Amino acid sequence: MKAVVVYESLWGNTAAVASAIAEGIGGGTVALPTKDAGPDVIAGADLIAVGGPVFAFHLSSEKTREQIRDNPEPGSPPPDLSGPSIREWLDGLPAGRVAVAAFDTEVRGPFGKGAPTIAKELAAKGYHTVVKPEGFIVLGKYGPLKEGELDRAREWGRQLAAKVSG
Ligand SMILES: Cc1cc2nc3c(=O)[nH]c(=O)nc-3n(C[C@H](O)[C@H](O)[C@H](O)COP(=O)(O)O)c2cc1C
Repeated sequence: MKAVVVYESLWGNTAAVASAIAEGIGGGTVALPTKDAGPDVIAGADLIAVGGPVFAFHLSSEKTREQIRDNPEPGSPPPDLSGPSIREWLDGLPAGRVAVAAFDTEVRGPFGKGAPTIAKELAAKGYHTVVKPEGFIVLGKYGPLKEGELDRAREWGRQLAAKVSG
């Protein structure tokens, strides 16, 4: 089985979750930021896991990224805005029928989710969602991830692989 994990991450939390998911899937699966996940990488994949952060109650968008770039909080860590957002990446993704799974990073609570939006976009392109969209929890605005979340991400990856190959 060929699998790939694609993510958007400004401060590294989603990147860390994506790597843990890739580890859980196993078989040399890699986690790639949107800028490195071109059509050549996606072609031939049997499973694609897609994730991004929640900003301003929604999946990260060009608008929230612009706000983050233009109004940095004093003392906040610099964001990595070098690649396209996951929304832009999804816009450019060709239609397909293979297995997919969506995840986000968020501060759990009534503060919105991103993974269901990713799942909806993927379904609209014909992809087959194999598990419920999942959120992984950060403790503050810029992280860190809550303790145990990387283990949970690894386990989620293992379950994904089992679903697709089983
Ligand atoms: C400007 C800003 C707005 C945020 N808004 C939300 C929000 O509305 N809901 C939420 O659950 N988390 C929110 N967060 C927390 C991020 O979702 C969280 O830090 C995420 O893990 C960042 O991912 P990254 O490190 O991969 O960029 C916000 C963080 C920042 C910096």
